[in-house]
Amino acid sequence: MHTTPLYRQLANHYLDAIRSGTLKTGERFPSIRLMMEKHAVSLSTAVQVCRELEDYGVLEARPRSGNYIRQPDTLPKPITPPPLDTGVYVGIHEQVSSVLKASQRATIKVNFASAYCASELYPLKILQDHMIKALRQDQHLLGAPGTPCGNIALRSTLARRALTAKTNLAPERIVITNGATEAINLALRAVTQPGDTVAVESPTFYGLLQILESLNLRVLEVPATADAGINLFALEQALQRPERIRALIVIPNLQNPLGSIMPEAHKARLVQLCAEHDTVLIEDDTYGDLVDTEQPLSTLKHWDRTDNVIYCASLNKTLAPGMRLGWISAGKWHDRVEMLKHTQSRGCEALSQLAVSAFMKTPSYERYLRRLRTTLTQQRRHMSAAITRYFPAGTRVTHPQGGTLLWVELPVHYSSMALFHEALKVGIQISPGDIFSNGKRFHHFVRIGCGAPYSPKIDEALATLGQLLKKQG
Ligand SMILES: Cc1ncc(COP(=O)(O)O)c(C=O)c1O
Repeated sequence: MHTTPLYRQLANHYLDAIRSGTLKTGERFPSIRLMMEKHAVSLSTAVQVCRELEDYGVLEARPRSGNYIRQPDTLPKPITPPPLDTGVYVGIHEQVSSVLKASQRATIKVNFASAYCASELYPLKILQDHMIKALRQDQHLLGAPGTPCGNIALRSTLARRALTAKTNLAPERIVITNGATEAINLALRAVTQPGDTVAVESPTFYGLLQILESLNLRVLEVPATADAGINLFALEQALQRPERIRALIVIPNLQNPLGSIMPEAHKARLVQLCAEHDTVLIEDDTYGDLVDTEQPLSTLKHWDRTDNVIYCASLNKTLAPGMRLGWISAGKWHDRVEMLKHTQSRGCEALSQLAVSAFMKTPSYERYLRRLRTTLTQQRRHMSAAITRYFPAGTRVTHPQGGTLLWVELPVHYSSMALFHEALKVGIQISPGDIFSNGKRFHHFVRIGCGAPYSPKIDEALATLGQLLKKQG
């Protein structure tokens, strides 16, 4: 029996026709009525086929005229996406390091480069109280080495919370790590050899590009948009090339820097595609808890039927950056990850794990997250309005459904790297677009962090950025 829904079978059929050139860019797509007749399907199936193809970016509805085939790399909104990049390999570490080092040398008054929330937004007092309680309960705590995979109470708490995102992670198959950074390092070390190719979204978090380069991996950048994340059509094309893509790293919920959220159907399709091509899917869920919804969105792991998804997450953005707690659920690679974690850094320290686990079990944790999300929504709104006020005409900005990041596109003749250097001179730090890719496509993009409460100082700093841009214009 066919397990793929009929609408997706038909969508795949048309995708093949577009890929092979049978249906060409600019050509009219069969009408809903014709599809119903030709394939003997219902109205809703025919409509779903068109939606699926629209989501893929290969179909464009023109008012009163019908649907037309288009290239997925020419989507106009809300941010100009990059063209399909067919084989850019990383050499980015130096570029990112030079940006980070220049920032460290400067005296920073306003930091728009951070993806963290301001420290006053984290529940520090509550966590400190839980730490004191844990130390009182076990006075030998600091004298004992951490357990290899991490504290079992925390692992059970994380597994129970994952259920709300429809994700089943067995506590004994979770390893607590030093943030998502260590989790992703472990995932890549478990499944790749130096020289292997790993695909990433483009643009993507520069830290991922640094990890890939440090492990001597080659990187293939696949275009992603603020609307829906990674472009599945472009990915399918990449997967069909002779060069094997060993793994793909994706940030499905609140991608950094795009803020995109993958539609649920895309998540399912992505998991299926990777399984079909024997490409390990590494899911980075660093920001999932910051999505503005009461019900957490599903993860890629939720759709995983073949144990091909390695789930990585972190509490560093949502709860306590100073504790550096993350975790990995590596499916069939669990034993190898456990061994690598042991050889790399042994178990994480116990005190923060106990404190976090105690807090996460209480109802105040959900209340805290809800408050944080509301605060961040207000901060993003203020920042977005100020960017509209102060930045040059033609600037575009994303409207993510959560998180701390805005991705700003300046008119193409502006240089965000020049802005970065000029802004540092007056104590303002930004993230220039160039560090989010190995190519030069994002030279006119800037990532702006909205983690701090809006204030006259922040407003003034954004006005200063606007004035610096005027000088470039
Ligand atoms: C998408 C993404 N993944 C991973 C990380 C690193 O996370 P951690 O601080 O938990 O190591 C970050 C940090 O900014 C991030 O944005």
